[in-house]
Formats: sequence, structure tokens, C-alpha cells
Amino acid sequence: MAGEKAKREILSSTDRKDDCIEIWDLDMDSYDSVKKFAARATTSLGRLDGLLANAGMMATEFRKSEDNEKTITVNVVSTFLLCLLLLPKLHKSAEKFQINPRIVIVNSGLHYMAPTKELDPNNGEIFARLNNPETADMSGRYPVSKLLVLYGVRELAQKLTRRKPLVIVNTPNPSFCVSGLVGHELSFGERVFEKLLARSTEMGARALVHGLCSGPESHGEYLTNCHVQK
Ligand SMILES: NC(=O)c1ccc[n+]([C@@H]2O[C@H](COP(=O)([O-])OP(=O)(O)OC[C@H]3O[C@@H](n4cnc5c(N)ncnc54)[C@H](OP(=O)(O)O)[C@@H]3O)[C@@H](O)[C@H]2O)c1
Repeated sequence: MAGEKAKREILSSTDRKDDCIEIWDLDMDSYDSVKKFAARATTSLGRLDGLLANAGMMATEFRKSEDNEKTITVNVVSTFLLCLLLLPKLHKSAEKFQINPRIVIVNSGLHYMAPTKELDPNNGEIFARLNNPETADMSGRYPVSKLLVLYGVRELAQKLTRRKPLVIVNTPNPSFCVSGLVGHELSFGERVFEKLLARSTEMGARALVHGLCSGPESHGEYLTNCHVQK
């Protein structure tokens, strides 16, 4: 299991005890699974300092999970469902321990290239359009999902601002990294491109850790290369 493998790798490269990492099931294609995960975290954790919502996928073929096209379900709807379900726990931890818990949702530089036609509110209901296999623009779907994440983070940040201690929400970009994201065997050209330009996963992950450590200046912001990017 990937989680167990990751755990062993982390333990072997750090001097930590076995019980400092727990592997829990979470299937972002299932709202029930998201709800179960959030309920378990809420009831069994003494405190919650941070949530790093890293799960993401890139698809070029239209498939559905739950009530949406899969990329939208996983990258956007389940991601925000998880954050909102864990919000009471984060607020409680903030108050009890006088800390600023973090919600970090992983973004991508590709959101700059998102075709916004499908998001035009004057063109009918946005989710209905994104979920229509006849008209869905799957070539731009991943960037659109990350643009929706940015909009969601800005909106959530505004709503969280009044309550103190602040639960900080931000959305960092790890940049182009070697990973399994494209979900298919890479072509020769893609492999050359990756070799020349991609960061290691470990290096990209530093930007995510930076998101978890960033202060109020990062609230509602998109981060890249470990700084707020306007
Ligand atoms: N790689 C890049 O160049 C790049 C650039 C910018 C942003 N990002 C973002 O970085 C994040 C991590 O992606 P990655 O590049 O490391 O790709 P990856 O190797 O494919 O990792 C994606 C992760 O998301 C999980 N995931 C996908 N679908 C899921 C589902 N339905 N339920 C639960 N977990 C699910 C995967 O879990 P399993 O392993 O169990 O399937 C895996 O841990 C994503 O949000 C991605 O959009 C990546």
C-alpha cells in the first residue's frame, strides 16, 4: 500500500518513532469516504494543527464520480468538503491551544492557462456545463479545477477572517514535479521535458510545507516558490 511505503520511507529518513504516522483510508471519489475520514479526525485527534489537501488528479477523458466529472469531484468538491467538515475541529484547536491552524490546498501554475469559457456565469449553470460530457472541454479541465480551487480559497479566506485565532488558508504551487499525475506512460518527448524541467517530488513538497508554515500574510493567497504570488 502506497501509504505504508511512504511511512516507511519517512521513518527511515528521520529519527521518529513508528507511531508518529498513521495511515488512514480516504477516497476522494466518494463523499461518504470524505465524511468518514473527517468524522474520524474530529473524534479521534486531540488537536488539528494543519490540513494539507494534496490529493489531485489530471484526466483528459470524461468520467464521472459522485455527481460531477471526476476531476471536479476530486480536486474541487471533495477537497472543499473535507476542509469544511474539518473546520470546526480546526477552530476548536485554534481556541483551545491559541494557535493558527492551517488549511493548505495544493494548486498549480497551470491555473493561469485555464480556459474560462466554461466558468462564464452568463452562460448557464457552471457545474451543469462542466458535467456535460457533450460540451466538457477536457483539455482544459485540470487548469479549470485549480482555478476553482483558487477562487474557493479566496472565498473561504474572506469568511474565516473575522474569527480569531485565525484559521489560515492558502494555496501553494509545488511547480512542475516528477510524479504520477499525468496517469499514463510518458512519451519520449514528455520524458525529455520532465528530465530537463521537473523538480523532484521532495523539492516540490517543500513548497507545500512552506504553505503549512506560512503566517497570516498567506491567508487567501496563491503561493509559488515559497512566497505569496500576486
Ligand atoms: N506533479 C506536478 O507537476 C504538479 C504541479 C502542480 C501541482 N501539482 C499538484 O500536486 C498534488 C499532488 O500531485 P502529484 O503531482 O504528487 O501527483 P501523484 O503522484 O499522482 O499524486 C496524487 C495524489 O493524489 C491522490 N489521489 C488522487 N485521486 C485520489 C482519490 N480519488 N482519492 C484519494 N486520493 C487521491 C493519490 O493517491 P494514490 O496514490 O493513492 O492514488 C496521490 O497521493 C496534486 O494536487 C496536483 O494537482 C502537481
